[in-house]
Amino acid sequence: NENNFIDSLMGKMTLEEKIGQLNLAVINNGVLTGTAISTGVDQKIKAGQAGGVFGTWDIDQIKKLQGLAVQGSRLHIPLLFGLDVIHGHQTIFPVPLALSCSWDTSLVKAVARTAAIEASADGINWVYSPMVDISRDARWGRDVEGAGEDPFLGAQMAKAMVEGYQGNNLMANNTVMACVKHFALYGAAMAGRDYTGVDMGRQEMYQYYFPPYKAAVDAGAGSVMASFNDVNGLPSAANKWLLTDVLRKQWGFKGFVVSDYGAINELTTRGLGDAQTIAALALNAGNDMEMVGDNYLGTLKKSVASGLVTMQTLDAACRRILEAKYKLGLFEDPYKYINVQRAKTEELTKSHLEQARKTAERTFVLLKNKNQRLPLKRKGTIAVIGPLADSKINMPGAWSVADDYHNSVTVLEGIQAALKNKATVLYQKGANITDDSLLKLRVNSFKEEITTDKRTPQQMITDAVKIARKSDVIIAVVGEAADMSGESASRTDIGIPHSQLNLLKALHKTGKPIVAVLFNGRPLTLNWENDHCDAILDTWFGGFEAGNAIADVLFGKYNPSGKITMSFPRNVGQIPIFYNERRTGRPFDENKDASKYKSDYLDVSNTPLFPFGYGLSYTNFSYGKIELSKTRLKADETLNASVKITNTGKYAGEEVVQLYITDPVARTTRSVEDLRGFKKIFLQPGESKDVTFSITPEDLKYYDYDLKYDWDAGDFIIKIGTNSRDTQSATVIWNK
Ligand code: IFM
Repeated sequence: NENNFIDSLMGKMTLEEKIGQLNLAVINNGVLTGTAISTGVDQKIKAGQAGGVFGTWDIDQIKKLQGLAVQGSRLHIPLLFGLDVIHGHQTIFPVPLALSCSWDTSLVKAVARTAAIEASADGINWVYSPMVDISRDARWGRDVEGAGEDPFLGAQMAKAMVEGYQGNNLMANNTVMACVKHFALYGAAMAGRDYTGVDMGRQEMYQYYFPPYKAAVDAGAGSVMASFNDVNGLPSAANKWLLTDVLRKQWGFKGFVVSDYGAINELTTRGLGDAQTIAALALNAGNDMEMVGDNYLGTLKKSVASGLVTMQTLDAACRRILEAKYKLGLFEDPYKYINVQRAKTEELTKSHLEQARKTAERTFVLLKNKNQRLPLKRKGTIAVIGPLADSKINMPGAWSVADDYHNSVTVLEGIQAALKNKATVLYQKGANITDDSLLKLRVNSFKEEITTDKRTPQQMITDAVKIARKSDVIIAVVGEAADMSGESASRTDIGIPHSQLNLLKALHKTGKPIVAVLFNGRPLTLNWENDHCDAILDTWFGGFEAGNAIADVLFGKYNPSGKITMSFPRNVGQIPIFYNERRTGRPFDENKDASKYKSDYLDVSNTPLFPFGYGLSYTNFSYGKIELSKTRLKADETLNASVKITNTGKYAGEEVVQLYITDPVARTTRSVEDLRGFKKIFLQPGESKDVTFSITPEDLKYYDYDLKYDWDAGDFIIKIGTNSRDTQSATVIWNK
C-alpha cells in the first residue's frame, strides 16, 4: 500500500535526494513570469535534484525529461509535470471571472474536466488552478482569474473546478492534480497592485476570504500554492500560521504546498535574510516545494546539520510530494500521461470547441438594453467597429499558455458566419486599443496591431464614422487587450482606453444606435458608455469560440443569462466596493438623506454602477412574494423560502435566482447581507416556476471577534431577488 511503498522508498533515499524532491524547475517555453530561472535542469533530474518540472507541454520533451528521471536517476522517481492550465489547455474557454458569471457549477466543472483531458493528453499531470482569491478591487489585474468578490459563490466555483480536474479517480490517465492558489488573501493586495502585502484582521479572513480555499481543500485538492503577498507582515511562503496552523491543523489538508514563482528568493528581497535563513523559514512554515529557485537545494542539507531544520520536517515535506506522485499513479506507470496518440486526438476536438461556444454564451452579461435594442435582426447593414472586433490574439484572454490563438474566432468572423447573406456587414478597426505609450510598451498583445495599422488615430476614426453612417446599427467591440489583465497587469484607470472612448464618442455623434460589446478581465468604469450606448454586452474574454458565441447572443440564438460576480464601480475612488460590506454606524440612504455626517462621498453615490449579481435578459422575470414554510423556527428546523418566478417577456430564458440573508443583531458587526444560495432556472415565455431555498442554522453562522463560528437566535431577514440590490424580503425568528 501507499504508506509501505513510500516508507520503503524513503528508506533508500539520501538526504540530497529527499531535498531534490522539493525542487520544482521551470523550462523556459515562454512561461517565465519572474526573473528567476532554473539552470541545468537535465543534470538536476538525473541527479535526483528535481521533484517536478513546469513550463512545458511538449509531449516529446516531457517524455524525454520523464525518461531522465525514471531511467537516468538512481531511484527512478518520476517527475510531476505542472502547468498553468487556467481556462482550458489547447481549447480555450472563457476566463475564470467570466465562468463565475454563469453561476453554473456544472458548466464550470465540465470546463475543468475538458481542460484536464486536454492537458493530460499533452503529458501534464498537475495544473495550477483553481485560482480562488476573493477580490474587491477592480484595479487588480488578476481579478480575471478568480470568481469575484463573494465567498459563497467563490467556494462553489472552487469545488466545481477541483472536482472537474481531479475527477473521482486521480489514478486515471485523464485526470490531473489541482493546485489551489494563491493561499492566502492575494486578492486583497494593497492598492490593487500585484505582489504587495495584505493587512487584515482574522475575522475578515475567516468570514470573507478563506471559504473558497477551504472549499477546494474539502473537495480534495491535492496541492496548494502559497501566495506572493505577505499576511500582516509575514510572507505566505514563510507563514507558519497560514500554511500549518490554518491549512493543515484546522482544515486537515493532506496534500503538499508549493511556493509561487521565485517566491522563496523574494523572501530575501523582502528582507527576511539570506538563502539559508529563508529556505529554513519557508520549509519550517510548511512550504514543501520551492518553485524556481535553488534555496532549498543549496542550503537545506546545511540546515539539517545545524539543526535549523529537523529531519522530521524535511521527511514530511518529501513524503507529501511522493504521496502526490503515488496518488497520480506515477510510480505504477510514469508514462501514463505520455501518449502521442491522445495528444493528437483529444485536443481541440469538435466537441470541445462546441462546448467552448456553449460555455461562452452562458458567461456574457447584458449590462444595458435600452428599448430592447438587442437581439438584433439579421437584416440591413451592420457596422462592426473596434480594435477588438477582429483581433485573434486578444480573444483567449490572460493565461492561455499552451494555445495557438490563431484558432480563435473573432467577433467579426462570428457575425459574418451568423449573417451569411442575410445582412451587409461593414468593418473598420476605428482605433488602436490604446495610444498610451506606457501601456503599449508593457502589453504584448498590442504588438500585432502596431505592426499592422499605420493610420493616424484621426484617420481611423474618420474611416469608422464613414461606415457607421451607412449602417443601421453599430456593433462596437471595445475594451481591454488580453494582456491588460492577468498577472502584473494592475491599472489605476479602469475605463476603456481613451483611444477607444474617442472612437465611441465620434460614433455616437452619427446618431446611429450603438451596441457595445466589451472585452475585459475586470470590472470597468462605464459611465459614459452606460449613458450613451443603447446596449452593453460584457463578454469578458470568451475564449476560442467567443466570436461565434457573441453572434449567437447578439442575434438572439441564445438569450444572455450571466450575472456579474464583482461590483462595477462608478469611479476608481469607490474601490474597494463590494456588496457584502459590514454595516456602518452612520448609514447613508441615497433616496432620503441630504444631511452631513453620514457614511458617504460628497461627489459620488455609494452604490456601484452595476451591483453584484446584476445582469439582464432579453426577457423579463417577475418575482412573486416570498413564501415561508414558517416564521418562527427552532434550532433543529429547516426553513423553506419559496418564490414564484414568471417569465413575463417574449423570449425563453434563464434566470439566476439569488438568496441573501441579513442578520440584524449579532455578536459582531455583520455584513449588510450575505449570499447564501442561488439557483439557475429556465423558463419559456409565460411559464412560472417556484424556486425554493432550504435554509438551516448552518447558513446563519459567522465568525465573531473571537473567531467563534456560530449563529445567534433572533430575527433574520430572508431576501430573494435577481441581484444583490433588487430583492424582496421576509423576516423570520429563529430560536436556539
Ligand atoms: O501559477 C502561477 C501563479 O499563479 C503566478 N506566478 C507564476 C505561477 C506559475 O506560472
